[in-house]
Amino acid sequence: MSEFVIRGGRVLDETGERFADVAVRDGEIVAVGPDLSGGRVLDASGCVVAPGLVDLHTHLREPGKEEAETVESGSRAAALGGYTAVLAMPNTTPAIDCASVVRDVQQLARAALCQVEVSGAITVGRAGERLAPYAEMAELGVRIFTDDGAGVQDTRLMRRALEYASGLGVTLAQHCEDSALSEGTCMHEGEWSSRLGLPGQPAEAEELMVMRDIALVRMTGARMHFLHLSTAGSVAMVAAAKASGLPVTCEAAPHHFTLTDACCAGYDARFKVHPPLRTDVDVAAVRAGLADGSIDAIATDHAPHPAYEKERPFDEAPPGMLGLEYALALAITELGIDLARVLALLSWQPARIAGIADAHGGPLVAGRPANLMVFDPEATWTIDASGGASRSSNVPYAGREVRGRVRHTIHAGEPVVLNGEAQR
Ligand code: DOR
Repeated sequence: MSEFVIRGGRVLDETGERFADVAVRDGEIVAVGPDLSGGRVLDASGCVVAPGLVDLHTHLREPGKEEAETVESGSRAAALGGYTAVLAMPNTTPAIDCASVVRDVQQLARAALCQVEVSGAITVGRAGERLAPYAEMAELGVRIFTDDGAGVQDTRLMRRALEYASGLGVTLAQHCEDSALSEGTCMHEGEWSSRLGLPGQPAEAEELMVMRDIALVRMTGARMHFLHLSTAGSVAMVAAAKASGLPVTCEAAPHHFTLTDACCAGYDARFKVHPPLRTDVDVAAVRAGLADGSIDAIATDHAPHPAYEKERPFDEAPPGMLGLEYALALAITELGIDLARVLALLSWQPARIAGIADAHGGPLVAGRPANLMVFDPEATWTIDASGGASRSSNVPYAGREVRGRVRHTIHAGEPVVLNGEAQR
């Protein structure tokens, strides 16, 4: 295990900020204070030293689609983006819907550059017909279950899923999409879908399921997390549900606070995503929800796809875009909120939702596990089209100037990114 001091930075965590060095030994923070020494020095001058980021929504594509991403390549992208933990989505092939597949991914996760938590499917094969065996997956540490990529359409089954989950103390996370309204569509339904002649899905395809699931949470008392909210109506409904005391949380993705349906004008499938890019009004509502606390977390929905698939016609290409290496900079550049709030949305709040706050997102104090990141909030850079460490390159932000760059990432006491370079 290594020993080092992160020197000359501004420590920022949930308890506030102060100029301090951070000493790390054997995987733990051993001291936080002025003029520390011990082991090698990691330069943090001009930088913020913070708890590592936590992504609630990462597609790592293993097993089954290793040409697009692997646990290893995705975790390298995560580390470069400042993440020390990600939640792997279960829409793999086969789906992560039973103990044996959970074990396989956990095995792969041992070599990852960040902690990889595994989520399980709500239904067998994500087919929406039979409940998956949550108990055997929960025994292996799975805390979040989702059929992400599809919403659970059958209301009675969703009620049973919530009752089953609440008995086990695990959380269900819904991809809100009513397939009766979204079937056969490829973008948001509105002015741009009409102009482009592309079949659109209305905001209501998302909002009807948000509305239904809030009703089911009220009925069952079970916890629920709403994935990648994209419409003004969804944000308002979840905010009202929270205000009425229901145990709900929600997230928004970087593309839903930076891009609109107008981006689809060139029929470039890098801008195709589910839920789809929406209108200016929706983007403004997502930004406001992130600023006022209605939305709990920024989650990337990092969704790698090979170039030959993304080069297909817009209506045939798969939905999704990369996010892990850009989320922090996009939040700093675009949201106009202070850094403490940005970090709340990217680190300590998602750590709590994922159930890993014992090791991630917590305050920087002696005795805590050293899962940390160091970033320069003023460094500007231009996002390129390469896709970075990902095996895929479906980047919708290529050419965009952003501010905020990760310098070092420390996972379990080991520097996995130093001066912006992955160490393995
Ligand atoms: O755009 C998306 N892509 N949305 C999802 O919900 C799934 C994801 C994927 O797996 O590619």
